[in-house]
Amino acid sequence: MAFAFFSLNVELCILAFVVCSSAQLSPTFYQNTCPNVSSIVGQVLQQALQKDSRMAASLIHLFFHDCFVNGCDGSVLLSNSANFTGEQTNTSSLRGFGVVDDMKAAVENECSATVSCADILAIAAERSVSMSGGPSWNVQLGRRDSTTANATLVKTAFASPTDSLSTIITKFQKLGFSVTDVVALSGAHTIGRARCQTFSSRLYNFSGTAKPDPTLNSCYLSTLQSACPQNGNMSSITSFDPGTPNTFDNNYFINLQNNMGLLQSDQELLSTTGASTIFTVNEFSNSQANFFSNFSNSMIKMGNISPLTGTRGEIRLNCWKVNG
Ligand code: HEM
Repeated sequence: MAFAFFSLNVELCILAFVVCSSAQLSPTFYQNTCPNVSSIVGQVLQQALQKDSRMAASLIHLFFHDCFVNGCDGSVLLSNSANFTGEQTNTSSLRGFGVVDDMKAAVENECSATVSCADILAIAAERSVSMSGGPSWNVQLGRRDSTTANATLVKTAFASPTDSLSTIITKFQKLGFSVTDVVALSGAHTIGRARCQTFSSRLYNFSGTAKPDPTLNSCYLSTLQSACPQNGNMSSITSFDPGTPNTFDNNYFINLQNNMGLLQSDQELLSTTGASTIFTVNEFSNSQANFFSNFSNSMIKMGNISPLTGTRGEIRLNCWKVNG
């Protein structure tokens, strides 16, 4: 009897280990099944960057939007279907879907039905950072693709650029991020562009004051007002980092010190009185190496949000739609 109980216990432990270990992502997940996946994705990205220097930023942005809605499961890539509304319906800021398709096609060509769209996004984000001059890290792999999307969640999952710092921190903390992660991940705004509509409220009538946001550097304010005239085209785009718009560096934090954060949510990290983020902003502006190592860790953390592993989900053959 005692032996049977002991044996059952051992079996339960082994079962728990198998279940738990199958839920772990690993950098060597495709070592035997698709060893070149990272370089295949990198090659497609390199070609895409020759045509469009913004693409690295757009792919990092896409990965962030995938992970924050029900985890990193490729759901952001799904189009509308008879069974659900695609997440793209509720966001107008995403781009790069065609490049992800090209990456998927190139990967399928070498290792068919093996690598998930969710993992392609994770690799594309890391390659994008690295190929823009930023850090590289060992991408954790083994995610599978969702068979559904959640367009409703898109409306609540993301902080708005006009949210207060405390609202933004709360949204990130709900997903397990620390204040340091919030600062590090915001540093992704060292590359890429934003539309006038996302920061125009700072330029003319900030919070109903009929004046610009007082935290804006006056010279930068004039530049932004010329780029986004009142009643002008709200879809015009402006670089987050005017100095080195396509280089992944720590200039984002130096810009904040010069009151040149583009979004209200950027500048708040430094300009909110008594904020818990101020120390880290100054730290990252003093040390790019420090920013890079924290950014890498925070991106790995983001990539670990609720992945589908083991037999959950599927390996989509076409990133736009579920199999079958
Ligand atoms: C802290 C909360 C955040 C807010 C409020 C925010 C807000 C925004 C906004 C408003 C835009 C411009 C969108 C447009 O005009 O179409 C943008 C772009 C971007 N965001 Fe964020 N973001 C946040 C966090 C993040 C995170 C965590 C990442 C990735 C780690 C990220 C990466 C990017 C990138 C790379 C772009 C440029 C995309 C492009 O040029 O195509 N953002 N963000």
